[in-house]
Amino acid sequence: MSDETRKKIAESRWLNWLDKRFRLKDYIVESMEHPVKPWMRKWYYCLGGLTLTMFILLVITGIILLQHYEPTTAGAAESLAFIMGDVWMGWLIRGIHHWAANLMMFLVVAHMVRVFITGAYKNPRELNWITGVFLLLTTAGFYLTGYILPWDQRGFELAQRTLELVRKVPLVGNPLAYLVTSEKIAGDEALHFFYMSHVIILPLVLFILLLFHFVMIRRQGIADPL
Ligand code: HEM
Repeated sequence: MSDETRKKIAESRWLNWLDKRFRLKDYIVESMEHPVKPWMRKWYYCLGGLTLTMFILLVITGIILLQHYEPTTAGAAESLAFIMGDVWMGWLIRGIHHWAANLMMFLVVAHMVRVFITGAYKNPRELNWITGVFLLLTTAGFYLTGYILPWDQRGFELAQRTLELVRKVPLVGNPLAYLVTSEKIAGDEALHFFYMSHVIILPLVLFILLLFHFVMIRRQGIADPL
């Protein structure tokens, strides 16, 4: 960090205000002085950060979509048509949500491949790799439930097939599927479950996993290249 930046931090009024209350300054200075080694500047070391950027974009656009989306089999498609045609910039918000979701899915896999190829999953980062596997599954969960929500032909079939697959799991499959819906053919109950998963359960799970992921990265640092 340059002397000028150090001086700016020391003199910043709002940073001093925050520091008096939360003692944040040492942490900020430490973060800014954290060494970025030359090999970390390669583009493929940005894939994790880009995945996070997509998630933040999805949360912001998702909250706006929530305002207008109706999670019922009769109203879902109509509410989406309303978003596309009548809500100010609705088509853009939905478009950004759609493309950010596709990009997040692509980026999380690319990030995983980068971690694998650079051997960054090895001792002492095994637990972070395992957390990553759960992050990947959670992202896939978002992707699946997101495509169910429009309740068009594809959405209905995805819900129906997912429930059929769950029912095939020995012993626990049937009770689990019954928890989601008592109906044989996916309907309102199932749509409600997938909606609740998409907007409450999965975001909470992802948030907790990310917290763990980032604390571990901060403690262990980025792995040296092989
Ligand atoms: C929502 C999904 C994810 C986000 C937002 C995320 C974010 C990040 C970020 C920002 C880093 C710092 C270095 C970099 O960007 O490459 C990182 C490192 C790491 N990630 Fe992820 N990640 C995710 C999923 C995964 C997955 C699926 C795996 C593997 C199964 C994984 C395993 C790791 C490991 C082992 C490191 C340490 C790498 C090193 O030290 O070089 N992550 N992650």
